[in-house]
Amino acid sequence: MARGMLPSSAMARSQPLAPTGSPRVARGGRTAAAQTAAPLVPPRPTIPKLRQAAAGCRACHLWKRGTQTVFGEGSSRSRVMFVGEQPGNREDVEGRPFVGPAGRLFDASLERAGIDRAQVYVTNVVKHFKWEPRGKRRIHQKPNAVEIAACRPWLEAEIAVVLPSVLVCLGATAAQALLGRSFRVSRERGRFVPSALAPRVIATVHPSSLLRAPDEATRRAETARFVADLRKVAGAIRG
Ligand code: URA
Repeated sequence: MARGMLPSSAMARSQPLAPTGSPRVARGGRTAAAQTAAPLVPPRPTIPKLRQAAAGCRACHLWKRGTQTVFGEGSSRSRVMFVGEQPGNREDVEGRPFVGPAGRLFDASLERAGIDRAQVYVTNVVKHFKWEPRGKRRIHQKPNAVEIAACRPWLEAEIAVVLPSVLVCLGATAAQALLGRSFRVSRERGRFVPSALAPRVIATVHPSSLLRAPDEATRRAETARFVADLRKVAGAIRG
């Protein structure tokens, strides 16, 4: 399949699928422009073109709070794509995905699994940091369905350009956005599941969940399970 084209079957499975063009939806008897980045996606996209276009994205309200758009990162020839939830505090400041505490744990786990981060493409379902102030701190807020749908055209375009052989959902937000609302990471993690999004698709936990483990023994055990899931990814890349 040509790079830049997401299979129509994959589009059909996508949920919730953002409408394209300049859609209008009924709201309380009035019509309002649907929140979607679709009109911003450039024709014949490449990752640099997409990153540049996404830098000005105002498809939903999250741009107002975020410092900048945090677009995906990695070679468009990567065989594997990891999809997280949204940038965190550090990512928002640096403008790069997975560079904060969860990102460091992710990097260390990739290394243990024999995967070179320089060879993978890393991105998020939502490209702006959603947070609320608590004192001087910015506290992560889970993105809602409208925000996820608004941002979805960027992720679809990234998948269509990179055409990964292996797509890895990190955590429930990514897994449910890409594999359906009924997908349960707790039940189905570490197993390749049928999907038109890529030849091999798998979900595992989000590395930030390891940081929230109640004690050191649990953290070690859960990190080992995470690394075991990543080893399956490493095997799929090789195979
Ligand atoms: N968590 C994510 O899901 N993505 C990041 O980029 C950082 C933390």
